Amino acid sequence: MAASPPPPPPAVRDFRALVLLSPAQRAELAALDARDRAGRLARGAALLNTGASIPLVGLGTWQAPPGEVGAAVYEALRRGCRHIDCASVYANEREIGDALARAFSEGVCAREDVFVTSKLWNDAKRGAGGAGGGAAPGAPSSSAFPPASSSSSSAVVSPAVEAACRASLERLGLDYLDLYLVHWPVVTGCSGPELDPPYLDTWRAMERLTRPQGGGGGDGGGDGKAPTAAAAAATAPPLARAIGVSNLSERKLRALMAAASVPPAVNQVEAHPLWRNGALVRACAGLGVHVTAYSPLGSSPEAAAALGEGPTPSLLRHPAALSAAESASRRTGQPRSPAQVVLRWNLERGVSVLPKSVRAERIAANLDVLSAQHALSEEERLSLSSVEPQARMVAGGFWLTARGPYRTLAELWDEDAGADARQREAVAALRRLGPDWADKEKEKEKEGGGAWGGSGACD
Ligand SMILES: NC(=O)c1ccc[n+]([C@@H]2O[C@H](COP(=O)([O-])OP(=O)(O)OC[C@H]3O[C@@H](n4cnc5c(N)ncnc54)[C@H](OP(=O)(O)O)[C@@H]3O)[C@@H](O)[C@H]2O)c1
Repeated sequence: MAASPPPPPPAVRDFRALVLLSPAQRAELAALDARDRAGRLARGAALLNTGASIPLVGLGTWQAPPGEVGAAVYEALRRGCRHIDCASVYANEREIGDALARAFSEGVCAREDVFVTSKLWNDAKRGAGGAGGGAAPGAPSSSAFPPASSSSSSAVVSPAVEAACRASLERLGLDYLDLYLVHWPVVTGCSGPELDPPYLDTWRAMERLTRPQGGGGGDGGGDGKAPTAAAAAATAPPLARAIGVSNLSERKLRALMAAASVPPAVNQVEAHPLWRNGALVRACAGLGVHVTAYSPLGSSPEAAAALGEGPTPSLLRHPAALSAAESASRRTGQPRSPAQVVLRWNLERGVSVLPKSVRAERIAANLDVLSAQHALSEEERLSLSSVEPQARMVAGGFWLTARGPYRTLAELWDEDAGADARQREAVAALRRLGPDWADKEKEKEKEGGGAWGGSGACD
């Protein structure tokens, strides 16, 4: 009798296989990733695990005010920016949509040239009336994620997630997103030891967005079952070409990947020299998840005020950023700003960046860092890589509640019990070290003019 043919190799996109890689294989993957970094910078884009490219420098739009955000997006596109980071909670997607439509109609760029990201907010994870009825108070779970809940719960979550995605698309005037992220591992109004609905229910609903829509196209995924005939007949393209996560710790990410049918393509997290997030960046590289840095300039006073986290220290006034900029300016004979050297620092370690600006000259200066002339010297890179103490600017303290799921920063970020004290002490030390955003605000006032006026210093 003829021997039966060998089973087909597992699909590359099946990350349940990837998380079983040996340490040596993981190291090889990380080395390949490191070797590709130079190529990525030359291309100005990184490859996602979906096979799509994500532009390395995008435009952030959080706290970009109404009446200014549209002009900023249009200007960014005109200057060659091809990645716009949006979110429903930023409450400015409609104006961004108008700017995109204008750029498309004027031939500045075509839809397929631009990578548009949006994010699922915490209030869109339950159907009307809630999915799971609320968890009882008590001690938080020791697991990173509880298992996905009953199918009836995920049946409620899925339409809510799809509706939120469609609402962002409608505001943006688009028929698909290049990337849709779960903004935070948080559910509005959920108070108790476990996330309710569980993160995995949300993720199953996200997975459905990557499949052809209509005619039952959302079925047959997530549970590993074959698509139904109705699903096969679906013709509408997927709502999201890639899905990903944001603010997810390594522990939560690994738990998710062990159960996901579609692995997250991106983890968007805070990352800059004051919060390197190095262990998470390395873990993501080993898992094939691209890291995008939010708040790559250390965020802003407006953001700190909105988050109620008090005045935060200014990364762009930090001695390490100032001296790296001075060194790069001297070495190249070209003016280099602290903003430019800190953005370049992230790019050189394989992390894409989303600087937010509503000023034309800053948008241009931020995009310019892709040029090889902005390469940092070893010394500049090392000095930006050794800033101490380390502190988050977007610590997430606003998600903590006495009943959980997160009672401490340590629980939110899956860190040791000292994490909360370290964050407090680091912020206090950084404030003692130098000027904070309050000083920066005064300087902004001195610059004069509106958002598009002033001296335009790219500091
Ligand atoms: N996933 C998440 O949870 C999450 C959280 C936070 C942020 N994000 C995303 O990441 C983006 C960036 O983060 P962010 O907005 O917190 O802060 P950021 O980009 O680190 O910093 C923005 C601040 O830097 C200023 N700025 C921009 N370019 C500059 C330059 N060349 N020189 C000097 N100052 C400059 C901006 O002012 P002007 O506008 O006046 O130029 C603004 O005050 C957000 O807009 C959002 O899209 C995501």
